[in-house]
Amino acid sequence: MTISGKTRVCAIIGDPVQHSLSPVIHNAAFNEVGLNLVYVAFNVGVTELKDAILGAKTLGIHGLNITMPHKHSVMNYLDKINMTAKNIGAVNTILNKNGILIGYNTDGAGAMLALKENGICTEEKKLVLLGAGGAAKAIAYQAAQEVEELVILNRTVEKAKQLAKILHSFNAKVIGKMLSNNVLYKELTTANILVNATSVGMYPDNNNSPVPSDLLTSDLCVMDIIYNPLNTKLLNDAKYAGAKTVSGVDMLIYQGAVAFEIWTKCTAPVEVMKKAALNELINRV
Ligand code: ATR
Repeated sequence: MTISGKTRVCAIIGDPVQHSLSPVIHNAAFNEVGLNLVYVAFNVGVTELKDAILGAKTLGIHGLNITMPHKHSVMNYLDKINMTAKNIGAVNTILNKNGILIGYNTDGAGAMLALKENGICTEEKKLVLLGAGGAAKAIAYQAAQEVEELVILNRTVEKAKQLAKILHSFNAKVIGKMLSNNVLYKELTTANILVNATSVGMYPDNNNSPVPSDLLTSDLCVMDIIYNPLNTKLLNDAKYAGAKTVSGVDMLIYQGAVAFEIWTKCTAPVEVMKKAALNELINRV
């Protein structure tokens, strides 16, 4: 594309941010749809966040993604926050609408879309979610509105129970339990979908999985939100057991697709976005 005086800017803000795939994904999408937008990355430390957000507003930056460690604290500097992001307590996407900064959280919607777009129906299903950290919380909020039963398993059991408690008003039956092999054995026997939102298996922890391989069966659909490595041990074990699998790149793409649609009101070219992300990941190895 040709950058002109009319080109608008979107950006990701985080620390560190230089390895983010979002610039590659969104620039590919902007090009594909023919939008006069560019996407860049800004490394912003904790003490600089307020100035960065106010600066973005002044400069008329059109859209922002927010990543670690700012997803919670950025909420202090926004004009409006949508209900989902407020409930989750984290913002990963900001729209600058005529000088009003509006915060959203697209992580949970992205995760559930990744399942659905891979042909995995979530209605009337039992989903076992591993983890109760930031990413797990966003997924749990969305899942509790879609599935019949949501079981949250976490190493620190209090966090799983606390998360289950705040989701009591949604349709799903939600419980929080300790992440242990015994509990996994019991819960996975009747589960349809398993989602890993812990960091177990993430580079450089490639040889570990949060689930013993003999507990995985072909009846399960397994999604890992980790995309480095692309094929985690959990996903490899699940494939070997005959389970349907969804990689972390899909969640990354679909959370990005939801953000793209908030900024542009255009349908996101998800295949182009995915191809750009996979190319970038392969070239990095
Ligand atoms: P994120 O924002 O990516 O979700 P996070 O909020 O730090 O990151 O959450 C990390 C999750 O991985 C937590 O659920 C954490 O469990 P604890 O709450 O008990 O810390 C989980 N996790 C990290 N290392 C783990 C391990 N070795 N075994 C089991 N769970 C682990």
